[in-house]
Amino acid sequence: MIRPGMSPLHSASFLQTHDLYDRFQALDAFLIEHQPLWRPKPFTMLTLLWEADYPLLSAWLRSRTLEEADRVHTQLHLLNAPPPFNQWLRQAMALSVIGELPSQYTQTPSATPADVPGRKWQQVEAFARHAQFLHTPTHWLDWCSGKGHLGRHLAANGAALDCLEFDVALVEEGQRLSNRSQLNANHYVQDVLSDTVTMRLNASHTPVALHACGDLHIRLLEIATRAGCKAMAIAPCCYNRITSDQHQPLSRPALSSPLRLNRDDLSLPLCETVTANLRTRQQRDVSMARRLGFDLLQRDLSGLDEYLPTPSLPTSWLKKSYRDYCYDLAALKQLPVPAERNWQVLERKGWERLAIVRNLELVRGLFRRPLEVWLLLDRALFLKEQGYEVKLGQFCNYSLTPRNLMLVAERS
Ligand SMILES: C[S@@+](CC[C@H](N)C(=O)[O-])C[C@H]1O[C@@H](n2cnc3c(N)ncnc32)[C@H](O)[C@@H]1O
Repeated sequence: MIRPGMSPLHSASFLQTHDLYDRFQALDAFLIEHQPLWRPKPFTMLTLLWEADYPLLSAWLRSRTLEEADRVHTQLHLLNAPPPFNQWLRQAMALSVIGELPSQYTQTPSATPADVPGRKWQQVEAFARHAQFLHTPTHWLDWCSGKGHLGRHLAANGAALDCLEFDVALVEEGQRLSNRSQLNANHYVQDVLSDTVTMRLNASHTPVALHACGDLHIRLLEIATRAGCKAMAIAPCCYNRITSDQHQPLSRPALSSPLRLNRDDLSLPLCETVTANLRTRQQRDVSMARRLGFDLLQRDLSGLDEYLPTPSLPTSWLKKSYRDYCYDLAALKQLPVPAERNWQVLERKGWERLAIVRNLELVRGLFRRPLEVWLLLDRALFLKEQGYEVKLGQFCNYSLTPRNLMLVAERS
């Protein structure tokens, strides 16, 4: 069975230039129609508007435990929920399923270099295998390269390599590793968002970007298309890391869509934890349950029945007693001093709310992948408008990284 966001690599085909527009329009209509299901965040609301329309589904989800929600969080097809959950699920899956990009066959993967974490190396190898172009690149440009592991892997056959990265330590280490491998490589300290970046990129480059966040890969799309690069391959991530408040559509279809996405919406595709370790997840849960309990308290203290955002807090706050946590957070938010109460009960209510929030979020989860594919199609359609043949597909399995989709573009 195909799981949303987890399609086995060979179960569907990747998207090509002629598929992009129709898929985009279908996703656009689906997302617009179901906005009340995916826009509101259960964390910030005591009840969601859609719950009145689907009381059976709401009551069923609210009766489930935190563990039950976590078990199916990335496997929504396992949730035997009341209607119309499965109907939404089928639509979401059909619209967001995308197969594997064409790849170069490699008999045996190369050994992980000592300097690269194993998971990162697998991503690098998978990206490189799927960055296939009609014309063999002669000069790679690794955009936001970190230490340049991807660029070095691609340039191992003798092509030239430029790496752009603004962290000086990563640039120095990257240059050292490239020198050691005797590559024709230059690692530059470069803020890719500054104007000077245009001097670093010309038509002879083939840019690649592995997990460049929001503004960073958008900038590459704009500059590389303007510079006349013949080909590029991009695996975006963190769509919400943008300086503007709203998503700035790139393509004509996205510009004419009524769908307007704010930064909160853009974080929806990232709301999944497939890689975090148990300790991190436990810490996150304690922190969220505490905040949800505090949210009940602050509604009481302020007399306003609305969510009050709280800043991210050092983990040391989780060691405070719940009473001290609430007192200190109330002071930080300049709320009236809380009266003494049964803090254990309040903390428990926070945990109960966390279970409800996690379960209601399963409905939002149905729209994670559709929204991500919509965002990628906006980028793909922009490249098409700039005269590129575009492919959009998976470059690795979802379990290796949930940001497993990649754009490969080439001008004939
Ligand atoms: C998620 S990491 C990906 C690194 C590398 N592509 C990889 O996959 O290993 C993003 C990188 O972008 C770099 N970065 C962030 N903002 C940047 C900017 N404005 N200019 C250049 N590099 C930037 C970060 O320092 C980081 O190394």
